[in-house]
Amino acid sequence: MNVIRFTDLCAQGKAAGQRVFIRADLNVPQDDQGNITEDTRIRASVPCIQLALDAGAAVMVTSHLGRPTEGEFKPEDSLAPVAKRLGELLGRDVPLVANWVDGVDVKPGQVVLLENCRVNKGEKKNDEALARKLAALTDIYVNDAFGTAHRAEATTYGIAQFAKIAAAGPLLAAEMDAITKALAQPKRPLVAIVAGSKVSTKLTILKSLSANVDQLIVGGGIANTFMLAAGLSIGKSLAEADLVDQAKAVIEAMRARGADVPIPVDVVTAKTFAADAPATVKDANDVADDDLILDIGPKTAAILSAQLREAGTIVWNGPVGVFEFDAFAGGTKAIAQAIAESSAFSIAGGGDTLAAIAKYGIEKQVGYISTGGGAFLEVLEGKTLPAFEILGKRAAG
Ligand code: 3PG
Repeated sequence: MNVIRFTDLCAQGKAAGQRVFIRADLNVPQDDQGNITEDTRIRASVPCIQLALDAGAAVMVTSHLGRPTEGEFKPEDSLAPVAKRLGELLGRDVPLVANWVDGVDVKPGQVVLLENCRVNKGEKKNDEALARKLAALTDIYVNDAFGTAHRAEATTYGIAQFAKIAAAGPLLAAEMDAITKALAQPKRPLVAIVAGSKVSTKLTILKSLSANVDQLIVGGGIANTFMLAAGLSIGKSLAEADLVDQAKAVIEAMRARGADVPIPVDVVTAKTFAADAPATVKDANDVADDDLILDIGPKTAAILSAQLREAGTIVWNGPVGVFEFDAFAGGTKAIAQAIAESSAFSIAGGGDTLAAIAKYGIEKQVGYISTGGGAFLEVLEGKTLPAFEILGKRAAG
């Protein structure tokens, strides 16, 4: 998609002395005391802010944090911990500004963080009056919030309609480029791994990918439903029997294209869902009525690993087993290692997937790790995200 890139504007000297409004996604997890427990999104937002500062802009940054009630600011909604962490990362003080919709005092070379934008009335519904006010604050609007790119809100969509210039920040652009490389112009074979507890939450993704990918590897509860569709018994494993026909349709759609949904040939089972439950490797045909399938077996892991090593492109969403329990982590570990060893371009996203990547220390071997949760899933569903759509429109003039 053709968009105006903020890096280009800076390289052309167009940001110097300008008021730049950056919509970042600084929605990070916090513990009960408000301490940030994971700061990837803040670190990923730093390059855009630094770029704007280096270009001589007057920089305003905002983000949502959680899902507060509009018009009712509570202390736990505050971006104060984020301002502190951002300040540490930028090596400068980052003042936090409240009640900023009607005007922000910031000079070229300075950066301020504007308090939780979702506290502003009209943010979530993309109220036009609010969006126009936001647009009036800035000369250049920059969307660098991939994690929120699937939301059409005042700071992600409306402001982009009305700002003089609307551009994509480096993080948003990098996500867009990686997604294009993986899904629009993939080097084949294109292999997708879609795993998770329920088919119902990922059915649209499975359907969308079944029209594009060469191999669709399913895992977790999703694989159990596909095993049922293939006529296998799954004991008392998590599955959605009412979606077996949908799973069959995905298998058929793939077959009709000469593509494949590999069904596990062996599994790791237990009698109870517990970290210390004894694990038994079984042939996929031998699952007993009181068995719980908690991972793919070693033969299946070897088959899938071989496919991943041969892949041109890999899209990874979801661990294939209960990898939090060591006895049932073998499948996910093998998949992670195969992705790390593969020369394929790989893109990964989704909370559990990032946890698995961190657990097996393969961050550097994954081609691109998305900062998006819901946004990444909507991309896999084949949707054009509102943030991309409006930036594309504005670039077209
Ligand atoms: C996320 O955490 O996925 C993003 O920050 C979007 O948050 P939201 O689902 O509350 O819009």
